Amino acid sequence: MAIRKVGVVGCGLMGGGIAQTCAQSGYETVVREVNQELLDKGMARIYAAWDMMASKGKLSQDQVDENRRRLHGTLNLEDFADCDLVIEAVIENMEEKLRLFPALDHIVKPEALLLTNTSSLNVTQMGAVTKRPDKVCGLHFFNPAPVMKLVEIVRTISTSDETIDTVRQFAISLGKTPVLAKDTAGFIVNFLLIPYLLAAIRMLENSMASRDDIDTAMKLGCGYPMGPFTLLDYVGLDTTLWAAEAIYEEYKDPLYAPPPLLRRMVQSGMYGKKSGRGFYDY
Ligand code: 3HC
Repeated sequence: MAIRKVGVVGCGLMGGGIAQTCAQSGYETVVREVNQELLDKGMARIYAAWDMMASKGKLSQDQVDENRRRLHGTLNLEDFADCDLVIEAVIENMEEKLRLFPALDHIVKPEALLLTNTSSLNVTQMGAVTKRPDKVCGLHFFNPAPVMKLVEIVRTISTSDETIDTVRQFAISLGKTPVLAKDTAGFIVNFLLIPYLLAAIRMLENSMASRDDIDTAMKLGCGYPMGPFTLLDYVGLDTTLWAAEAIYEEYKDPLYAPPPLLRRMVQSGMYGKKSGRGFYDY
């Protein structure tokens, strides 16, 4: 199936990054937010990224203008009706997703694919509330979506081979390298990354080393681009908590049990970089 027009639900950190990636890869892209303020904020972030790329000589002004023409912001899901593929990137809340998927199924043309960017929630369940579970799978991007080269394609027990092939080609056309994962909580990356991030928080809770020393140790000792606390703030403490809870819920493995400090920081609105406070101040 040829993909020409893409819909992205949500223009937050991930949705905006995904919409940016699709539009700059040549796809007619519609991105939807729930209110004008959030939409304006998300679109402004995308426009700023293109201006930054132009200032570095990575895009010409003509390309910036073309990208802007290809990207349409909306408040109406109905504008996804003629999309060939829709990527959901709303809040990591299953109830929200289980409301959204039947709505999309009703609006979007029957042959279109419905994808989720969820980092750890059950994709099979999202497919099961639609009439096209064979056309539902995960396409999990990494933050910052326009820069990180990986996407995880998450296959459910109902996803067809044809859907996986189309999504694989689509991912490659975005300049990404796809890997295939089964629909089990955490897929590949978060199954490995979350226990590492939680262990860093436990080290801090137990005063085993300072925040800065733990970050420095992992940057310089392992060659990671960011230490765990910088990465936690970058990904979002709320996002990390939801991912940890979802994986813990599935396996009940204490490695994934959110440490008390993480929960309390999220309860205090300390979400990391996006809220101005996390393990660091911004
Ligand atoms: N659009 C286009 N380009 C962008 C961009 C954007 N939105 N944001 C950054 N860039 C470009 C910059 O222009 C720069 O390009 P250049 O090298 O050609 O000048 C390049 O990306 C690197 O950016 P910076 O120079 O600003 O900063 P750094 O060199 O420090 O790199 C980083 C930043 C890429 C974020 C790097 O620190 C990194 O890789 N960090 C780790 C990120 C990571 O692990 N992400 C995965 C998190 S897990 C996740 O997302 C899953 C979820 O489910 C939890």
